[in-house]
Amino acid sequence: MSEELWATVDTYINGVVIGRDAALEAAAASAAAAKLPPISVTPAYGKLLHLIAKVRGASRLLEIGTLAGYSTIWLARAVPADGRVITIESNPTHAGIARANIERAGLAARVDIRVGAALDVLPQLAADKQTPFDFTFIDADRARLADYFDWAVRLSRSGSVIIVDNVVRKGAIVDAASDNADVKGVRRFNEQLKSDTRVDATMIQTVSAKGYDGFAMALVR
Ligand code: SAH
Ligand code: DHB
Ligand code: MG
Repeated sequence: MSEELWATVDTYINGVVIGRDAALEAAAASAAAAKLPPISVTPAYGKLLHLIAKVRGASRLLEIGTLAGYSTIWLARAVPADGRVITIESNPTHAGIARANIERAGLAARVDIRVGAALDVLPQLAADKQTPFDFTFIDADRARLADYFDWAVRLSRSGSVIIVDNVVRKGAIVDAASDNADVKGVRRFNEQLKSDTRVDATMIQTVSAKGYDGFAMALVR
């Protein structure tokens, strides 16, 4: 079992369930051209987020970590025309690239990019006292994951879904002695999740063109 095979199978899966998609391909190409890290969700994972948001009937979505807006496009396509995706990005260059990609996808009216550090923007969202989010995708630095998740729950309602990316990290997550900031951040999140009576959660390992990782899914009680 090799990363090469996982990538080959991902390409095959794309041919089955994704097909050609000009806006998504342009977003991926722009991220590569700008030499952004190749860490956008895969097409099939993006579509999973899209489908879960649709199953949920979500119209208010929150994303932490925009990068080039690849996952944002998948999420914005899941909401009705009067729906909204608020996506938080701390890097202004990334936010600018994402804005162009989201505009090209015809989704600018549904997407609100908030440029700033998540822990600055999340309290502002709470202070705005807007309608709670139906769906949240957390995909930014893992070091503060526990805090992002706590904010996501506070900004949710009963029945909201929260997906957390990159919670397995090639299996490094089982190493209690790890000094890696990402691993420590995920482990701190997991400790909090164990006793978090606000949610029901699960965690799934994945292999893909991006290697071996996983995601967590939580349903707010
Ligand atoms: N969700 C995107 C990928 C996000 S990559 C996709 O799948 O297409 C993670 C992003 O989080 C990067 O663009 C990075 O700049 C951003 N980020 C890192 N730390 C952050 C923070 N503290 N607040 C907000 N964004 C952050
Ligand atoms: C990596 C993958 C991600 O999905 C992410 O959000 C950050 C980093 C990685 O493979 O390094
Ligand atoms: Mg990720």
